[in-house]
Amino acid sequence: MRRIFRFIALSVILIVTSRFVTYAQNTDARYPIIPYPQYLRPGNGAFVITSKTLIITPDATTFKNEAGQLNQALSKSMGSSLAISHQVAAKAAVILKYDAAIATAEGYSLTITPQQVIIAAKEPAGIFLGIETIRQLLPADIETGTHHTSLSLPAVVILDQPAYAWRGMHLDVSRHFFSITYLKKYIDLLALYKMNKLHLHLTDDQGWRIEIKKYPKLTEEGAWRTFNKQDSACMKQAVDNPDMVIDPAHIIHRDGKTLYGGFYTQQEMKDLVAYALAKHIDIIPEIDMPGHMMAAINAYPFLTCNGENSWGELFTKPICPCNETTFEFAENVFAEIMEIFPSKYIHIGGDEVDRTDWGKSEACKALMAKEGIKDLPALQSYFINRMEKYFNAHGRKMIGWDEVLEGGVTPTAMIMYWRSWVPNAPVKAVKNGNQVVMAPGSPLYFDGKYDKNSASNVYHFNPIPKGLTKEEAKLIVGAQAQLWTEYVPTEQRADYMFMPRMTALAELLWTNDVSKYDSYKKRIVKQFPRLDELKVNYRLPDLDGMIDSKVFVKTDTITVAKPMESMTIRYSNDGSLPTATSPVLNKYVVDKPQTLKIAAFTPAGRRGDVYTSTYKQQNYAAPVASEAKNGLLVYYYPGDFKGTTKIPEAKSDKVYTVNGITVPVEVKAPAFGLRYSGYLNVPQQGVYTFYLTCDDAGVLKIDNQLTIDNDGMHSAVEKSGQAAMQKGLHPFLLNFVEGGGGYTLKLQYSFNGSAPKDVPADWFKN
Ligand code: ACM
Repeated sequence: MRRIFRFIALSVILIVTSRFVTYAQNTDARYPIIPYPQYLRPGNGAFVITSKTLIITPDATTFKNEAGQLNQALSKSMGSSLAISHQVAAKAAVILKYDAAIATAEGYSLTITPQQVIIAAKEPAGIFLGIETIRQLLPADIETGTHHTSLSLPAVVILDQPAYAWRGMHLDVSRHFFSITYLKKYIDLLALYKMNKLHLHLTDDQGWRIEIKKYPKLTEEGAWRTFNKQDSACMKQAVDNPDMVIDPAHIIHRDGKTLYGGFYTQQEMKDLVAYALAKHIDIIPEIDMPGHMMAAINAYPFLTCNGENSWGELFTKPICPCNETTFEFAENVFAEIMEIFPSKYIHIGGDEVDRTDWGKSEACKALMAKEGIKDLPALQSYFINRMEKYFNAHGRKMIGWDEVLEGGVTPTAMIMYWRSWVPNAPVKAVKNGNQVVMAPGSPLYFDGKYDKNSASNVYHFNPIPKGLTKEEAKLIVGAQAQLWTEYVPTEQRADYMFMPRMTALAELLWTNDVSKYDSYKKRIVKQFPRLDELKVNYRLPDLDGMIDSKVFVKTDTITVAKPMESMTIRYSNDGSLPTATSPVLNKYVVDKPQTLKIAAFTPAGRRGDVYTSTYKQQNYAAPVASEAKNGLLVYYYPGDFKGTTKIPEAKSDKVYTVNGITVPVEVKAPAFGLRYSGYLNVPQQGVYTFYLTCDDAGVLKIDNQLTIDNDGMHSAVEKSGQAAMQKGLHPFLLNFVEGGGGYTLKLQYSFNGSAPKDVPADWFKN
């Protein structure tokens, strides 16, 4: 597969017409399509679809499925299906036309004039994608069947094709289980935004979710568990958020125990695969091994080297690659998996393997000696490479998470890159000849907390890592976002976590044009009514300018701009969560310390994220010194601290001077704490706002006051706080913890309403 195929017709038309077509101000409103087409020329007038309109296909079989999909999209609101014909008649028609000149399988052209609509493509996938474009040009209420006797499609010429071949979403159905109905909804949303791969993470320590006839205990036992630590965390959050309640649909009572779980029968999954294929989406099954196999091991203990089924130091103990019975099991399982899933790709996982027990096993020692396997990563490669041969022998390609590179992997495997903290892994894979799907934790783990930058970070993600030639970059086949579900116990929560940020990924992977970001922000708002019709619990837009910890000297007047005209901003100041009947926030004067909770509400009463701002009264703090040296001191504490309060109090003898909040090059430990200490030299009196983004934990103190609390082990999240200061030097302390797995650390400030910017180096003193 290759990235960006420019077909000649498209290039020529682009060159000839682009000078004459100005990007009209109202184009976003008239054609609010996501992902935006590669080429769009607005037209005059509209084509009107009525019950008399024909759908014309080349013959009885070509594009039959696509004609059916078009009818499905229209018939709910038209009340009946449009007739299908194979003769181009004078009558108004939507013509699905074969066009050999379109160079890519997913490429299509769409020409809408008042007389007719033509979708042309070489492959059914292209026609289908053209239909999804048409769907987005029709009123949102066609989705639920509001009756229309006619539907108007704005005239336009579109020439379109994707920049990347792999446009993927992942869903972890192991940690929490999701119904087939929900998987269909998920597939529908992928199709609506022209994504084309659904990666199902079907098995993990917390549950085996696919029926395997040869090993019935995998689902009889392995699909069910008692509540775990993550469930408890969800239950705690459920007090404030009903989306975090463990879904009662997946709770059963058996032998006096309350169990959580579920699984898909092979037939259910085959039906789902067919449903997805009709929408030109491949389902890629992942059976994660040799690690993450506790659910299987509990049911079949022979799978480990020593029969134990406990946790290792970081991960659960893996299955044993040194017994033939393990291969027999794995091959039998994958034989059934390949029967269910026709996908060219089969994902074997291969991530996060605790290999300690392999090193202690006599069987492994013997195998390593016999095969000349030099170490435990190479032993993992032995397992992975043997399984790859099995897949290849059945005409399939293997995918593995990027750890499979560690002990060496064949160039024929596809690598899924997720470990943001190993930036050279995708480069190494490409240099080895492997195709790579970019799926890095930052910014593509959609289980990570949202902040106001989440969608922008996705939109501006560059799938091509540094260090590749143009030719090598062709091995980067695309990207994928992951939705791990340890803390996603309901379908509503899943919707919220991946929508609407998936649309930013969809547009990135289709258009690969970051200059469209401002236009995207306008178009996404136009998509919301359709998502409302589809009952998608998408996250509502952020409120601008919200600060977590505010200070005021005398009073402060708060106004909050509505993110959408139709929304209402409401607040509470008694600790309760704002509701659709809470007071409306217009101008609110703060004249005493308090905590405000603020949220935007849609006309239907749906609440956006609740923002909590605490207000403290402060006088402008006086400077504490008149002279100091340049730079901050930063004390380095290698070690695994679970939060900033765990960093030792004593000064470390590993101390460096820095001119900004950067991690010194000397810091090499995978997990560490840093204490930045000195003064902040501010140039004038005022209330300063600071923004601290960190992964994992960070706490900022200015003038010995807690300014920002971004403590706790989490993915990159921005928190903000204020300090009232007189001109001069103020005590500055920033504690930061990286717990392993890659860090983010950024401090910015704003003053008098300026946009956030980096703190100047000459403000840092010691
Ligand atoms: C992973 O997140 N362990 C692939």
